[in-house]
Amino acid sequence: MTNPLKLSDTTFRDAHQSLMATRLRTEDMAALAERMDSVGFHSMEVWGGATFDAATRFLMEDPWERLRTLKSLLPNTPLSMLLRGQSLVGYRTYADDVVDAFVDRSAENGIDVFRVFDALNYEPNLERAASAVKRAGRHLQLTICYTVTGEGRMGGPIYNLDYYMSKARALRDMGADSICIKDMGGLLAPYDAYDLVSAVKSEIDLPLQLHCHYTSGMASMSALKAVEAGLDVLDVCLAPLALRTSQPAVEPIAVALMGGERDPGVDIEAILDIGDDLEAVLPKYAEHMQTTRSAVIDARVLSHQIPGGMASNMTSQLREAGAIDRLAEVLAEIPKTRADLGFPPLVTPMSQMVGAQAVSNVLFGRYASMSEPVKEYLRGGYGKPVSPVSQELVDKLAETDGQDAPPAPDRPGETLAPELEAAREAVSDLTSDIDDALIYALYPQTGERFLRIKHGLERPPDPAAPSAPAPQPEQAPSDAPPRSTRARRFNVFVGGRFFEVEVDPVGGPALSGPPSPPSAPPLAQAAAPPSRAAEPAQGQVAVPAPMPGILVSLAVSVGDEVKTGDPLLVLEAMKMQNTIPSPADGAVESLPVPPGAQVMREQTLAVIKTEG
Ligand code: CO
Repeated sequence: MTNPLKLSDTTFRDAHQSLMATRLRTEDMAALAERMDSVGFHSMEVWGGATFDAATRFLMEDPWERLRTLKSLLPNTPLSMLLRGQSLVGYRTYADDVVDAFVDRSAENGIDVFRVFDALNYEPNLERAASAVKRAGRHLQLTICYTVTGEGRMGGPIYNLDYYMSKARALRDMGADSICIKDMGGLLAPYDAYDLVSAVKSEIDLPLQLHCHYTSGMASMSALKAVEAGLDVLDVCLAPLALRTSQPAVEPIAVALMGGERDPGVDIEAILDIGDDLEAVLPKYAEHMQTTRSAVIDARVLSHQIPGGMASNMTSQLREAGAIDRLAEVLAEIPKTRADLGFPPLVTPMSQMVGAQAVSNVLFGRYASMSEPVKEYLRGGYGKPVSPVSQELVDKLAETDGQDAPPAPDRPGETLAPELEAAREAVSDLTSDIDDALIYALYPQTGERFLRIKHGLERPPDPAAPSAPAPQPEQAPSDAPPRSTRARRFNVFVGGRFFEVEVDPVGGPALSGPPSPPSAPPLAQAAAPPSRAAEPAQGQVAVPAPMPGILVSLAVSVGDEVKTGDPLLVLEAMKMQNTIPSPADGAVESLPVPPGAQVMREQTLAVIKTEG
C-alpha cells in the first residue's frame, strides 16, 4: 500500500515572485504550461500573491487574462492562488463586498484552490474570504503562517507548538478543506517540521500541505522530515527558479522518494525538459534576478527572519533609492522594529510594513515618520497583534489621533462601508467590466494607470526606457563637482532653525584616507552652512522625495501656512503610502509635482518659505 506524496508546483507564482521580483510574463508561462499539465502535479500555484500587483504595475498585463490563459492550457491540473485574507492581493483591509466579488471572479476565471492566510494569523480576517470560497464551491485551504519568536527554533513564549496547534484547530473549525503551514522565511527547522507535522496529523483529520522557502538552506531537509511525519502535499518548483529565496526544487525530492512508499510518481524526464526550456528564457529577466551573492543560501536569515520576497524587494528598492550601502543597517533594524510591533510574522503586508518602517527608521531616524499602514496597524486596523505592541508608539500615535478615536473592531473588515460601487463608478468612463473595476478597487493609483493603458487612453511605457523620469537638473553652479553616490542628506538644526544639507565626502569614492561611515559624518562638515543644492534660496526649505515613488495626493495648497510636522502630501514608495511632513514652519511656496506623477528620489516635492 503506497501513499504517494502529492506535489504542488509554484513556478508560475511564488518562484518568480521570490527570485525575480514577480516579473515572469504570461507568454513565457504559456510556452511551458501544456507540458506542465501532464507532469502529474497535484496542483499548481499560478496566481495571487504579488502577481496581480506586478502584472498591472510593471508588466502592463491583465492578470485576469493570464488566469484564463493558464486555465485553458492546464485543464487537468487544479490551479491555486494565494489570497491574503481580507487584504486579497493588495496591501490594506478591503471592504466585504470587494472580498466577495474578488473571490467570486477568481473562481469564475479559473481558480480551484484558494490558499487563504492572514499575516497576523488572526482568524477573523479569514472569515469573509473563507465564506466566499465555500459559496463558490472551491477548495478552501486555510493557512498558518510559520515564524519563530527569535531563537531560530520553534518554541519560546510566542511561537511554540501549542500556538500552532491552537491555530490548526481554529482553522479546522472554520471549515478548512485542507491546512497549509506556510514558512515564508525559511525558518522551519527539519526536526521542528517533523514535530509540527506529526502533531497536526495526529489530531487534525485534514490534508496538510507544507510551503517553505529555501532561504536559510533548510527547506529540502525540512520537507523530507515533514514527508516522513506524514505530510500530504509539498510545494516545490522547477530547478531554474528553485532554491535561494524560492521553494525547494522538485527534481531532487522526486528522485529522493523514488521507488519508496512516498514516491510522488511524477514524470521526471518531462520535468527536466521543461526546466531546460525555462532556463532558456530566463536570461532576458537578468536585471530582475538577485544573483549578486555567491552563496545560494543566506544563513543569516536565521537571525534576521526576512522572507525571500521581502529581501529581494528591499534590495531592489534600496538600490533604486541609491541607499544599497545601508542594507546591513536595515537588516539589523528589522528585528527591533518587529519587536516594537508585537512580533508579527514577516509576511505581506506585515513584511512590507516592517521593512518599510525599518528603512525609514534607518534613513530618517527611528519613527521620525510612520507610514499610514503602520499607524493603522497600531490602531488595531489589521486585527489583534500576536503579542503587545510598544506602548510608546501607541501613545505617540494617540497624541496625534486625539482622544475620541474609536476602538478597533473585532473584525477589521466589518466597519468598512461597501467600496465596489464607488470603484465601478470611478472607472465607468473606461470600462464597465467587473474584473477591471476590481483592479481599480485594489490599487486606485497604479490600477487606474493600467486601465487607461489597457483601454488605449495612455501609451504603454517603453520597455526599453527607464521606469522613472529623468532626474531634474541640479541647481548647483557649473563649477561644482559632480555629486557622488556617497552623498547623504542630513537635517541640521542651528539655533532653532532647520536646514537640510547634503554631505558628499571630498574626493569621491574613498581611494585613500580614513573613510567616514555615511551615517556619521565629521561634525564640522555636517554643521557647515547649508549647501547650495539643498537650499533653493535664503528662507526657503525644499522638501525632497526620500524615495522614488508616486505622489498620491497633496494635503496643502500653495500659500497655506504650515507648522513643522504638518502633513504636506502623501507619497507611495516601497508600496507604502507615506505622509511627508513639513520640515519647517512657514508657508507653502510651491508644489511642483502634480498628484499621480512618478517622482525620483531627491526630486523636490514642495518648497516651504520660512521667512516672510
Ligand atoms: Co511563499
